[in-house]
Amino acid sequence: MLVIGNGAREHAIVWKLAQSSKVTKIFSAPGNGGIEQLAQCIDIQVTDIDNLLYFALKENIELTVVGPECALVEGIVDKFREKGLKIFGPCKKGAMLEGSKRYSKEFMTKYEIPTARYASYNKLGDALEGLKEFTFPLVVKADGLASGKGVVICNNREEACDAIKSMITDRKFGEAGREIIIEEFLQGIEASLMCLVDGNKIIPLESARDYKRLLDNDDGPNTGGMGCVSPNKILDLKLMSEIKIEILDKVLKGLQNEKLDFKGILFIGLMITANGARVLEFNVRFGDPETEVVLPRLESDIVDIFLKTIDGTICQEELRWSPKSCVCTVLASEGYPEAYEKGRDISGLEGVDRDILVFHAGTKKENCIRTNGGRVLAVAALADEIDHGRKKIYENINKIHFQGIQYRKDIGI
Ligand SMILES: Nc1ncnc2c1ncn2[C@@H]1O[C@H](COP(=O)(O)OP(=O)(O)O)[C@@H](O)[C@H]1O
Ligand SMILES: [Mg+2]
Repeated sequence: MLVIGNGAREHAIVWKLAQSSKVTKIFSAPGNGGIEQLAQCIDIQVTDIDNLLYFALKENIELTVVGPECALVEGIVDKFREKGLKIFGPCKKGAMLEGSKRYSKEFMTKYEIPTARYASYNKLGDALEGLKEFTFPLVVKADGLASGKGVVICNNREEACDAIKSMITDRKFGEAGREIIIEEFLQGIEASLMCLVDGNKIIPLESARDYKRLLDNDDGPNTGGMGCVSPNKILDLKLMSEIKIEILDKVLKGLQNEKLDFKGILFIGLMITANGARVLEFNVRFGDPETEVVLPRLESDIVDIFLKTIDGTICQEELRWSPKSCVCTVLASEGYPEAYEKGRDISGLEGVDRDILVFHAGTKKENCIRTNGGRVLAVAALADEIDHGRKKIYENINKIHFQGIQYRKDIGI
């Protein structure tokens, strides 16, 4: 097995793989200080596709799982498949659903999937002119991958002009901002739904709620995610059956019609509005931190799930879930999501209770475990009630220290 990536998401995937009787050896590229305890980490970066391919061929890897979107958008799946290697994730064409926001909006429009009204532009003058078609607030988005930073919510014309210029003229996000989209602002509550897609079926995993803002009460800047809970209570049975008809069935039809040959995870970012669920965006891989709360609830063998998805034979019965809830809080470096220091000693990990899951993100093992990224650890717990899980987590976080540690105190409230 080879797991590509170095975040808490990949640690959770490796942790789940390690529970399978079908797994003998796990490699991770490049991995991190936590993954290292379960897998052999190899020093190949996630976008170095040629070397990843060379490694997988040399080691006869029977299954590769790709964590981050960049490798998928670069076409890693096509290259592995060409050589006859099994790999979990969409081909380059399918990865465009995340790699280009314009493409994903066109897809949604074509297949009548409910989403915010939008227009796309690649010229400054046209975009500024186009603002007339929208009321404020509105949302300006860079078309390409921007590590979660390419979306600006604008409250007035001045903010919108600044955002558009920064993308199209100043190339703040490089080529990702060559095109932009402007879209209507949707009011509501967000929910994340990761779905398995095997080419014939689309099967949602248990739902999750991500806490994107840095500070308590959803204040402060957007981040990669500061915490998560599963399930997301807002996605009740009634809403899920609407989502199946209005969104999932249409998405599957679109994937098949466009011949995207999608085998992997399609992550659907939803806004639940007063008028029903709307799709905010698609991602083509596991979410982070959603994976850290959804996989602990999965009771089935994840190897079977990966292989059956690739073979096109996955079915709902394959997925068995714990009725428990899972809560996870992210411990981040001082300064995150802006510039931060690395290399600070982490202490107290050995004192954490046995039923607490500590997934590593930006960590590195030297003579001790040190910080090595913005998001450092994701601390998760299963419990009958979210309240109880939250209490367990915060008791245990108190035992973990590194200089400048910051985290939200309100995950799961
Ligand atoms: N149309 C919209 N209305 C309201 N909020 C939005 C809208 N589009 C995006 N957002 C907010 O911005 C966040 C990031 O947007 P998203 O489309 O998910 O891009 P990315 O994850 O690539 O940065 C969303 O999670 C949501 O909070
Ligand atoms: Mg998003």
